[in-house]
Amino acid sequence: MSTHEAHDAVDVIRTKRDGGRLSDAQVDWVVDAYTRGVVADEQMSALAMAILLNGMDRAEISRWTAAMIASGERMDFSSLSRPTADKHSTGGVGDKITLPLAPLVAACGVAVPQLSGRGLGHTGGTLDKLEAIPGWRAALSNDEMMRQLEDVGAVICQAGSGLAPADRKLYALRDVTGTVEAIPLIASSIMSKKIAEGTGALVLDVKVGSGAFMKDAERAGELARTMVALGTDAGVHTVALLTDMSTPLGLTAGNALEVRESVEVLAGGGPQDVVDLTLALAREMLAGAGRGDVDPADALRDGRAMDAWRRMIAAQGGDPDAPLPVARETEHVLAPADGVLLELDALAVGVAAWRLGAGRARKEDPVQAGAGVELHAKPGTVVRAGEPLMTLHTDTPERFARAREALADAVAIAPEGSRPADRPLVIDRVAAG
Ligand code: URA
Repeated sequence: MSTHEAHDAVDVIRTKRDGGRLSDAQVDWVVDAYTRGVVADEQMSALAMAILLNGMDRAEISRWTAAMIASGERMDFSSLSRPTADKHSTGGVGDKITLPLAPLVAACGVAVPQLSGRGLGHTGGTLDKLEAIPGWRAALSNDEMMRQLEDVGAVICQAGSGLAPADRKLYALRDVTGTVEAIPLIASSIMSKKIAEGTGALVLDVKVGSGAFMKDAERAGELARTMVALGTDAGVHTVALLTDMSTPLGLTAGNALEVRESVEVLAGGGPQDVVDLTLALAREMLAGAGRGDVDPADALRDGRAMDAWRRMIAAQGGDPDAPLPVARETEHVLAPADGVLLELDALAVGVAAWRLGAGRARKEDPVQAGAGVELHAKPGTVVRAGEPLMTLHTDTPERFARAREALADAVAIAPEGSRPADRPLVIDRVAAG
């Protein structure tokens, strides 16, 4: 290590290992020195594990987040003629909500600068979904993004490499060192990117259940409270909704399949849970941006949200009228018995869609636009033995067997008259306080 460095990595690791709190100067130094390559990967791995085991207090997490923001550029939308609001979801199965939500909120007069990612593992990525639309491109320059926000009011694009580079490096390290699950690290990772992005208001959709990152409501609540505090400390109006991810959202999981369902919602139809969650999040975004007087349901009904969608897609080279890709092969999964569908497990459906080709195992893998799972029943539906419960879609039929394996225990059917557990879609709301 250079003799000019202000701190010693081993001291910082020992402080956290022994349950102490890191000083502001230690946090600033270790994040910056890691980004510069002065703190080695093995040292940051040890520190990340110490943080996972011993936690951080609110001030430490806030400082850590600020240091990650300071590692890169910050965007500024204050020159736009309208307020800005964004949404972040911690990821779920069939979670296509960003697609109808961004144009819907734009149609209500609030600009949506949505920097999104690609899917890894069983949860899909918004950019992968939109890339199913012929011609659509994810990479925009900052100038293009600004122009589109002013002209159309909504942009969904890839985050540039200049935003929180410390997080990119640290996230890749956490991924291979068993340290992803630390709440201070998850919260600072998500919020550093959202705060650097420069949105005025932020709504967090924190998923709870088998298909989510956080399987239980207690940990999801802690993550939500931590992120709301970070946003609030940074001057971003931040609210979180805890929402159910025990069963997939809507009736589709897979890229083009989810675009199709999103367009149905924008056309005034679509599955009720997708419509309800889109409207709940839109109301929060509008309220956070000072437009709580506007009812987004009107913009969904009268076609303004659809107009904004068409303009948003076309502005990024996409053809909103082009037919969406369709997988070459399909197979049905049949109901094994008569009765009421009690459970339809989100994780199993997500893994099946992933194995059919909708997701990727490594970040450089390609995805199949048409692959995924289409559901014909949701919990509470009466089903008959031998009727299709799901349709599996893929270009590569050798994948069907592994997808079926993932679905082996996905479904529970009970005698008619039974009722599934009452699971509200929105479980809780967390605001600053
Ligand atoms: N998403 C992120 O961006 N960071 C995390 O740490 C976890 C999920």
